[in-house]
Amino acid sequence: MSVQWFPGHMHATKKAILERIKEIDVVIEMLDARLPGSSANPMLAQLTAGKPTLKVLNKQDLADPARTALWLAHYNAQPDTRAIGLHAGTVAPARALIAACHELAPHRGGMVKPMRVLIGGIPNVGKSTLINTLVGKRATKTGDEAGITKQEQRIALADDFYLYDTPGMLWPKIVVPESGYHLAASGAVGRNAYDEEEVALELLKALKGPYGAQLEARYKWGWTAEAVARCKEDELLTAVGRKRGALLPGGRLNAQKAAEILLTDFRTGALGPITLETPEEHTRWLQAALQHEADLAAERKARQAARRGGSRAAPGTA
Ligand code: G4P
Repeated sequence: MSVQWFPGHMHATKKAILERIKEIDVVIEMLDARLPGSSANPMLAQLTAGKPTLKVLNKQDLADPARTALWLAHYNAQPDTRAIGLHAGTVAPARALIAACHELAPHRGGMVKPMRVLIGGIPNVGKSTLINTLVGKRATKTGDEAGITKQEQRIALADDFYLYDTPGMLWPKIVVPESGYHLAASGAVGRNAYDEEEVALELLKALKGPYGAQLEARYKWGWTAEAVARCKEDELLTAVGRKRGALLPGGRLNAQKAAEILLTDFRTGALGPITLETPEEHTRWLQAALQHEADLAAERKARQAARRGGSRAAPGTA
């Protein structure tokens, strides 16, 4: 299985962004600090290409600080890009975003040339929380603009600073299988798009090496981190279930319940600070996935060419 879901109303969102982007000075891309690479929407990057970008690694309170530092360095090394970690509910760091936007577009500011910032990100990444924090008492929601009413909202954070809010954006196809699992584990994907047991097993695969000690601290199996790392994922899920009483009549494991327990513990931060991927890992997965797509496309093309050749051949000559 892989995790996929349909983009639905996304065409309208795409159109609204394309209309607005021409007059945008800075794009704020909100990412989930626990899965920065996987929570980046390639469609947003494509639509906003060439614009200075501020990557906001949100929910950093739930993420592994050492890995957040790796991701910040990775993004800060990219041209026209700045990156900061954030807990969207905290006021002072959220206001620091405004300063970061001015650094990215120093020529903007003042009533004549107000700063125009577009904010985007996948659903559940914390965009509303951040906007609420930023809005405080000062800002006014200026409401609707003709034509893009439902797709966009303009928020005045100051007299010379406008934030254009776009709806949470999904994308048509998740190319990297690991990203699908990480998005599902984080709660960004609707529950009917994936199998919880499968996602829990993939989550354990990501956790058992770097975060074995945190799993042990939560479930108290009495194992060393090395022993946890050596376990198979299904053994670990069974161990979670047995420890938490996720059992069926007769004492068999209730794998669905065990998966739900693990996923909830991850999502709420009960397993401690965790980041599911490093920049190096994500780059490797992306390359492998793109290669796989290219191989599939080449196979398809070869099959089509063979069919065409076959239909042109005279009967009995094939
Ligand atoms: P969205 O607009 O991008 O869809 O996301 P939203 O702000 O609604 O946030 C989704 C969930 O993530 C909310 O939790 C919110 O409280 C939580 N959240 C946002 N930013 C942070 C952060 O920096 N750290 C942590 N730990 N959580 C964050 P919820 O359970 O869905 O809602 P609620 O119970 O908090 O209201």
